[in-house]
Amino acid sequence: MKTDTFRGRDFLTLLDWTKEEVETILDVALDLKRRYALGELHNHILPAKTLFMIFYNQSLRTRNSFEAGMTQLGGHAHFLDPSKIYTPALPGKEVAYSTERVSDVARVLARMGDAISIRCYGDPVDWVYGDAHELIRNFAYWADIPLLNMECDKYHPFQALADVLTVKEKFGTFNGVKFVMSWAYSPSVHKPRAVPQSAIIAASMMGCDTVLAHPKGMELDDEVLDSCRKYAAMNGSSFEISNDFEEALKGAHVVYPKAWTAVPMFPPPVGERDDEKAQAIFDANKDWICTSDHMALADPQAIYMHCLPADRSFEVTDDVIDGPQSVVFDEAENRLHVQKAVMSLVMR
Ligand code: CP
Repeated sequence: MKTDTFRGRDFLTLLDWTKEEVETILDVALDLKRRYALGELHNHILPAKTLFMIFYNQSLRTRNSFEAGMTQLGGHAHFLDPSKIYTPALPGKEVAYSTERVSDVARVLARMGDAISIRCYGDPVDWVYGDAHELIRNFAYWADIPLLNMECDKYHPFQALADVLTVKEKFGTFNGVKFVMSWAYSPSVHKPRAVPQSAIIAASMMGCDTVLAHPKGMELDDEVLDSCRKYAAMNGSSFEISNDFEEALKGAHVVYPKAWTAVPMFPPPVGERDDEKAQAIFDANKDWICTSDHMALADPQAIYMHCLPADRSFEVTDDVIDGPQSVVFDEAENRLHVQKAVMSLVMR
């Protein structure tokens, strides 16, 4: 495969990338991880390059892994917080800031730096499903430098890369690995679908036997589900949906329980924009918490995963997330390595 196919590309969803390209990204991530572990400087890869980071929502892992990553590659990550400096994006999204259009902001930043990364979901777009992704696509249209999706309302592709890199490290293969992405209870209904959607895309693309488990009312995007079925058919693996938490966990190698919002939370045509209805669905499913009894249903070698932050005592008990099967901090660290890999490949 020509490595030049990476240079200059946007990274908005794994659906835009082939399995072969994702395998190359994971290989590069492991190479950079090895160099980092040995203390080998690799700041010659993106010397004096700038990444502009626009956060419409807060972040611990994403912000710090991109900043640290750019420093390690020899460049600089510049933090932009539109909610502090300007008003957030409004429904309609024709403005990036209160005084400037997306087309102007994107073209200005593209004259000064080497990539733009954006996080936007939920309240800044009033939960209109797909609008945050469209905002990022609009930036990508106008900026002639790579656009990196740091999590929108549909996808969190860097989290998914870190997830599958962690699976690769722990099991050495994706074939025969039962990957269970499950909903779990949280007191907050304000949780985007991006992580579960990107996780099942990545797991099924790489060849895991992928199971999506959730109570009724938590259904994900049909287009994402169709893509997972297509990847499973291409890989000779499986993709299943279950409404039974315990049944889904039986024999699992990867247990990944996490909250995402219920369908009524979204305005029409997806849902009804009814927070109370979403809350009622959540509250009827408080027993979807990952405990040691649930982990005992899984394969004895099973790992517990979570993108973090986790809602402890709601999504998961402390003995599981702090226990020997938990790999959540390896998973968080892998954000750094996969993001460095993508930036190295697309920002050269
Ligand atoms: N997992 C993740 O994206 O974490 P942050 O929200 O802290 O960036």
